[in-house]
Amino acid sequence: MVIALNEPLDMHLHLRDERMLEIVAPLSAETFSGALVMPNLVPPVTTKEALVSYRERIVKSAEKRDFTPYMTLFFRSDYTPEFLESVKSDILAIKLYPAGITTNSEGGVEGFELIELGGVLEAMSELQIPLCVHGETGGFVMDREKEFIPIYEKLAKNFPDLKIVMEHITTKSAVEALDRFENLYATITLHHLYITLDDVAGGLLQPHLFCKPIAKRPEDRAALLQAALKAHPKVMFGSDSAPHPREAKEAPGCAAGVFTAPIALQALAQLFERHEALENLQSFVSDNAKRVYGVNPPKKEVILEKSPYLVPEIYEGCVVPMFAGQSLEWRVLSAG
Ligand code: NCD
Ligand code: ZN
Repeated sequence: MVIALNEPLDMHLHLRDERMLEIVAPLSAETFSGALVMPNLVPPVTTKEALVSYRERIVKSAEKRDFTPYMTLFFRSDYTPEFLESVKSDILAIKLYPAGITTNSEGGVEGFELIELGGVLEAMSELQIPLCVHGETGGFVMDREKEFIPIYEKLAKNFPDLKIVMEHITTKSAVEALDRFENLYATITLHHLYITLDDVAGGLLQPHLFCKPIAKRPEDRAALLQAALKAHPKVMFGSDSAPHPREAKEAPGCAAGVFTAPIALQALAQLFERHEALENLQSFVSDNAKRVYGVNPPKKEVILEKSPYLVPEIYEGCVVPMFAGQSLEWRVLSAG
């Protein structure tokens, strides 16, 4: 059995910089037409110069493959409307992190008072720049996303013309919130469709499955699966593929992030086939994102075949993928 996917898009991707960028950019560029690139470098991407030079480094690292990096700016509450206007053509969205909630987010926002954020959000709304949000409070780790839903609702209500993307949703509460506001959208990762907290910490601790937001309960995964498998029109695939060097994962104080980019399409095909929903995969991995973000990525057809694929243990001796050393049921036959 074979399927063809056209212009796969990964609407939440960490590409990092320097050696890691050189390792991971070609892997994404091989099978994806484009990706929304997260700005949580050290220091975060907050200026036009940083955006432009980071995009150039990504394009160079992708080594001539047809791949569009859609750039994001790290949200700051002190951006002026003039500054936003000057970077509008360089970005597809702005990413908002609560301060300290995840990897390299220390410079994020401290509170969600509209009085503080309103000026920037108003300007984004007028300029039609979508807002992507890492929606977690500083509460108990399993409740952080659920506790953040009222903040999403406040933002959605106060800025009805602003597209707000709830990034990497992990809960039934977030899936339900999607349908309450027209301007709320979401991305779902590969790993949150596969795993629950049990897979991370139910037996021996699995550092390569540790990420933020942490994987939740079976009923949460079921709600995410339902939304993805039916290709809910407001839901897009965003891998949140977040590579860290092996020694940063297999360590006390394990870094958060699951590296999935090179195996994402194979594992999605496996999942959608198992649930008899292969016909919806195209919408989930591309069409919904094209429509929501209004993008027109470079043409790319990826042919996947149902035949065993042994996932590498490690890439370039540096970064360990999800399903390392395991066999998936689908492989990439060709991409181009
Ligand atoms: C991401 C990273 O490592 O940059 N980590 C993660 O666990 N997902 C940051 C993020 O998206 O939260
Ligand atoms: Zn992320």
